[in-house]
Amino acid sequence: MDKKNIDWANIGFGYVQTDKRFVSNFKDGKWDDGQLTDDATVVISECAGVLQYAQTCFEGMKAYTTEDGRVVVFRPDLNAKRMEDSAKRLEMPVFPQDRFVKAIEETVKANLAYVPPYGSGATLYIRPYMFGSSSVIGVKPAEEYQFRVFTTPVGPYFKGGAKPITIKVSDFDRAAPHGTGHIKAGLNYAMSLHAIVTAHAEGFDENMYLDAATRTKVEETGGANFIFVTKDNTVVTPKSNSILPSITRRSLMYVAEHYLGLKVEEREVYFDEVKDFAECGLCGTAAVISPVGKINDHGKEICFPSGMEEMGPITKKLYDTLTGIQMGRIEAPEGWIYEIK
Ligand code: PLP
Ligand code: COI
Repeated sequence: MDKKNIDWANIGFGYVQTDKRFVSNFKDGKWDDGQLTDDATVVISECAGVLQYAQTCFEGMKAYTTEDGRVVVFRPDLNAKRMEDSAKRLEMPVFPQDRFVKAIEETVKANLAYVPPYGSGATLYIRPYMFGSSSVIGVKPAEEYQFRVFTTPVGPYFKGGAKPITIKVSDFDRAAPHGTGHIKAGLNYAMSLHAIVTAHAEGFDENMYLDAATRTKVEETGGANFIFVTKDNTVVTPKSNSILPSITRRSLMYVAEHYLGLKVEEREVYFDEVKDFAECGLCGTAAVISPVGKINDHGKEICFPSGMEEMGPITKKLYDTLTGIQMGRIEAPEGWIYEIK
């Protein structure tokens, strides 16, 4: 397989159009067989449910080239399950989980030339998504839907890769109690845009959102969950019904406990205790693990002992082990690695 002539080591996290994408339509109560297409555009009614009432959800995952040259995807079954949860909460039809995984496989296979080589630092980001495509003007679910999967080669989500970032405590809320924070609804990201533009304009890389009800507990950022490390090396992650159940975070907690022999805690994390942690990181498919060096709380700074130059030691071990598993250098737990054949 000849790879495309792309400067893999220097690409950012952006959209690059690849050759093929998967499309399936839901009409008259059922999904059609779906197919790959060269057409990277979507044509829908001006009154489509997605355009009027934001009826859309998505997923994000990556394909990796392993050390021995295979192309693999990390835990796609969990993305399939989460998309099912998102669809149900948004009154959309479920795209069957087995068909979801097959569609991922077909799309990656059709774009193998864009899967970055091993060791390049880049990966192929896979974006499955679904939206209401038929017209609705009264507030109700659409009757027709489109499920699509495209791929795009990506580099690090945050400029500087593994360099620690600075985040701010946001004055905006991301998700309400009993709202949609636990699913991957497009609307969660639409409402975060003003907050992220504001944070960037003030010189911060991301927002830390607190729980909307009491503003005392740590939730997550706009696109990643938090992990913290205590001074005695316990890995702590916030538990909340209004954050996205990150597949990376769930995997890291397993890695911390079973590969690194660390104590792990998933529990409510009060913002007041954040200053006492030794390390802080953001985790997600796009973010992998991005170390946080500093948190700005309305002018008051929390500076983690790991500093602004490199990842803290436990974060680094978690990063090395997770990426080692994803790139085939370290044996994966049963079922974590899906090979594209
Ligand atoms: N939280 C939010 C809001 C996200 O958008 C993402 C990205 O998918 C995550 C967390 C991380 O989830 P995952 O590790 O499944 O990619
Ligand atoms: C991901 O990590 O896949 C995300 O969806 C985060 C962001 C790009 C929205």
